[in-house]
Amino acid sequence: GPVAEAGPSGVSSCPTMEILKPSEENIRRAGEALARGLLVAIPTETVYGLGASAFDVRAVARVFEAKNRPVFDPLIVHVDSLEMVDRVATIPSPRVRALMEGLWPGPLTLILPRREAVPDLVTSGLPTVAVRLPANAIARAVIAAAGLPVAAPSANPFGYLSPTLPEHVARMLGGRVDFIVDGGACPIGVESTILDATKEPFTVLRPGGMPLEAIEELAGPVEVFNRSVARPTSPGQLPSHYAPRTPLYLFPSGGLAEARPVGRAAALLFDPASLAALERSGRAAAFAELRVLAPGGTSLEAAAALFAVLHELDGGGFDAICAERLPEAGLGRAVNDRLYKASEK
Ligand code: TXA
Ligand code: MG
Repeated sequence: GPVAEAGPSGVSSCPTMEILKPSEENIRRAGEALARGLLVAIPTETVYGLGASAFDVRAVARVFEAKNRPVFDPLIVHVDSLEMVDRVATIPSPRVRALMEGLWPGPLTLILPRREAVPDLVTSGLPTVAVRLPANAIARAVIAAAGLPVAAPSANPFGYLSPTLPEHVARMLGGRVDFIVDGGACPIGVESTILDATKEPFTVLRPGGMPLEAIEELAGPVEVFNRSVARPTSPGQLPSHYAPRTPLYLFPSGGLAEARPVGRAAALLFDPASLAALERSGRAAAFAELRVLAPGGTSLEAAAALFAVLHELDGGGFDAICAERLPEAGLGRAVNDRLYKASEK
């Protein structure tokens, strides 16, 4: 398919790739593989990650190669415990420690002052390192079995949709990863929230699976990186990212009746109320397919479904995907951010 052709020619391939069910024996094997410098895709509560030992520069280099990712884009280091944080970063203040104790394990990545032991390739030479303690028990067990912090970007080719199912990883990176640990569907479905905790006020660099409301409840008001004012400091902030091949057009919440799509188009609606409104407007027939992200009307459901639905629509031969924004609250912020970055501008 079009995704397999996206990579550069001549990347190292892994014809022996194995998909591992998460038995005790297989978790041990996955951990050993990481410790030996192999690449292991792991399930997290957000999206699948393409893991490598954070201390093995050759393994980390293979991650960049497999994703066709520019080396100026640093990786998130995953740990299995608060104790393991100390191997890669320092905790700058009691307020940051309180965030860790209150919101970890969970979909929150903290930017922290790095330790010297972390290779420059992981941090792109920055004085900081991104650290995350995932809520997924399989991920933590694999990291524990490796006995090492695990550097893992999302397991997709650079710039493309993130994977929320093991099949997505196998299809996009199948020849380039040694093992995929099968943890089923990722329950949150959008990447972690990235919070710069190196200076106060803390700043959200990327909205994600940890709602802003939960962070502010614990830490008080935080800044939110604003793409129209500031210069991006991480590629997750670049305007075009997480994108399907099919052109995606973004409309205001409830605005799909205004769409005038050309050709075979799919409509991506938030909830049944939006669908009913589109049908009442008489404009539903402009679309070859109507998809509702959240049958129960919650942003949590929409986030969990987002990438799987986009992967599916991207393979559906449509000329366009027309999506509406969600209300800007809870995980609606993260979904809107991903839709905006996926859209034609
Ligand atoms: O949920 C997630 O965060 C998933 C799972 C696998 O944990 N990972 C993920 O990784 O989304 P990735 O590589 O696709 O996105 C990591 C983002 C990038 O935008 C990168 O630029 C930013 O984190 N980042 C990493 N280190 C950073 C640092 N020291 N300062 C600022 N941004 C950083
Ligand atoms: Mg990514």
